[in-house]
Amino acid sequence: MMESHDTRRLVAAARAARRKACAPYSRFRVGAALLAANGKVYRGCNIENASYGLTVCAERVAFFNAISAGERRFVAIAIVSTGAATPCGACRQVMAEFAPNLRILVAEAKGRGKVKTFVLDELLPSRFCL
Ligand code: THU
Repeated sequence: MMESHDTRRLVAAARAARRKACAPYSRFRVGAALLAANGKVYRGCNIENASYGLTVCAERVAFFNAISAGERRFVAIAIVSTGAATPCGACRQVMAEFAPNLRILVAEAKGRGKVKTFVLDELLPSRFCL
């Protein structure tokens, strides 16, 4: 179980990551912070492209950042956006591949609102895996 200070620390990291978002087309800024089993936190923000389909979500940037640093075990991800959006389907599938027991914390960008917590299985039941 995560302690509440871990939750606060992770959400704060996601909020800081959101400030780096590159979202000139949608103007919808997202920050993510991924907690590895060893306690390290890896950040990501959404990165858009003029060829819209090349855009990468904050969650996948955080995962690929961590994985490319050699991490393979993950505990939780915090995601911050306006409206406390839950992750898109593509990001859920990536999470399922690398962290089937992941805890997902979503928080509102403005203020210190309530943090909603999900487990991946409720966001992506019957996931595809090989
Ligand atoms: N986006 C994320 O970064 N994460 C999500 O889970 C949903 C959407 C980004 C992609 C795009 O840059 C913008 O939000 C609007 O879709």
